[in-house]
Amino acid sequence: MTIITIIGGQWGDEGKGKIIDHMAKNADVVARYSGGNNAGHTIENDHGKFALHLVPCGVGWEGTKNIIGSGTVIDPNVLIEELELIKKNNLPGKIFISEKAHLIMPYHIKLDQAEENHRGNKAVGTTGRGIGPAYSDKISRYGIRMGDLNNLEKLELKISENLKIKNKILKEIYGADEVSETDIFEKLDEWYKKLGKYISNTEQIIHDNLEKNKYILLEGAQGALLDIDHGTYPYVTSSNSISGGSLTGLGIGAKEINKVLGVFKAFCTRVGEGPFPTEIFGDEAEKIREIAGEFGTTTGRPRRIGWFDAVAAKYSARINGLDSLVITKLDILDHFEKIKVCTSYEYRGEKIDFFPSDENILSEIKPIYEEFEGWDESTYNVDSIEKINSKAKKFIKNLEKIVGIPIDIISTGPSRKATIEVNDL
Ligand code: GDP
Ligand code: IMO
Ligand code: MG
Repeated sequence: MTIITIIGGQWGDEGKGKIIDHMAKNADVVARYSGGNNAGHTIENDHGKFALHLVPCGVGWEGTKNIIGSGTVIDPNVLIEELELIKKNNLPGKIFISEKAHLIMPYHIKLDQAEENHRGNKAVGTTGRGIGPAYSDKISRYGIRMGDLNNLEKLELKISENLKIKNKILKEIYGADEVSETDIFEKLDEWYKKLGKYISNTEQIIHDNLEKNKYILLEGAQGALLDIDHGTYPYVTSSNSISGGSLTGLGIGAKEINKVLGVFKAFCTRVGEGPFPTEIFGDEAEKIREIAGEFGTTTGRPRRIGWFDAVAAKYSARINGLDSLVITKLDILDHFEKIKVCTSYEYRGEKIDFFPSDENILSEIKPIYEEFEGWDESTYNVDSIEKINSKAKKFIKNLEKIVGIPIDIISTGPSRKATIEVNDL
């Protein structure tokens, strides 16, 4: 039996989708445990290139069971569209939706946008997909769950009750438009008809597969530094994106996890607001953004760019219990004469080597860099460690040493073939 949790080690978009697709070749189950359609996970395979927002990245492989777990929040309209895309392109994996997963309702989306407007220059820069308000309702026990679609009469009553409060907040607090009850009710039938057949007791599926010693991948969304508890609060998402979230978000015991893999870019990016100690600007940032295509998979926003932050990576390794690292986008560094890695910070004249939690300190700290020589030979699409040039290899070795965790996989391009398994997983 092998259960591997795969998480984003930075601020999201590390290339989790590509790595999960690669690792799912022989997987029996691939299960997403947190977030919603704030995520955009890109996979590229024989069927084409897809940006998946909710469906796990094992769906490109025949025989995989792809579970959208209880810890996720689901916009039914987005999921219906994604399921249609998957069907149209003949992606062969089976799909199951947890009856406990919460729905993102139209009023959550409106509230997300109203809250962001209200925050003004303190806006989080959310994806505007209703994620925060849907999780808030889950915690305050006003949430609507996928299983509620099985009883539309009762569901209508719940929605009516919720709308009384939500519309008051939208109108009276935020001066925003109200959400129409009839518009939501008109959708319920379609949601049930198109999603009902996928709604399942997904814990049971996972537990059965555990008992049968199957190969299970747990798919993280976002990144550790966007985690609601351990990220750069308040500039975070509203769920536990760290590996711990895979236990609560799927109903699995801690002892079952065999390995935790952290996916990191060979540099750093961030979308939305919030502290980013190694952020760079100007031509250098523009160059990386253009070469690497650093624009949000979900919102299309330009991603902020920075050098690899090893202090943050070490912190991420601890809060996730990482066994090993996956380094993506090594090929992007082909284009630089000098490559920087942040190994400590300076705060008010003092050197610090831990990742602070206070947003004011995080915004003030300055990165201290170690510089590495670039290389002339391209690493793009290289598929074995032997074919990597010696300077790039040296950089990888140094990264491993600085973070203190072995590197298991290196990615050198978006496609499946551009993957190097350094150690046999
Ligand atoms: P995720 O949210 O972590 O799954 O990452 P995204 O899909 O949002 O963004 C990663 C982007 O980088 C996608 O466009 C991938 O196709 C692409 N990508 C992944 N790995 C590599 C790599 O090693 N090199 C290059 N050049 N692109 C990559
Ligand atoms: P994947 O899974 C990058 C960021 C948003 C914003 C903050 C809160 O593709 O790596 P939210 O809508 O979640 O309330 O926004 O979190 N964010 C992501 N950034 N990748 C993601 O997902 C993200 N999901 C949320 O930009 O800063
Ligand atoms: Mg993404």
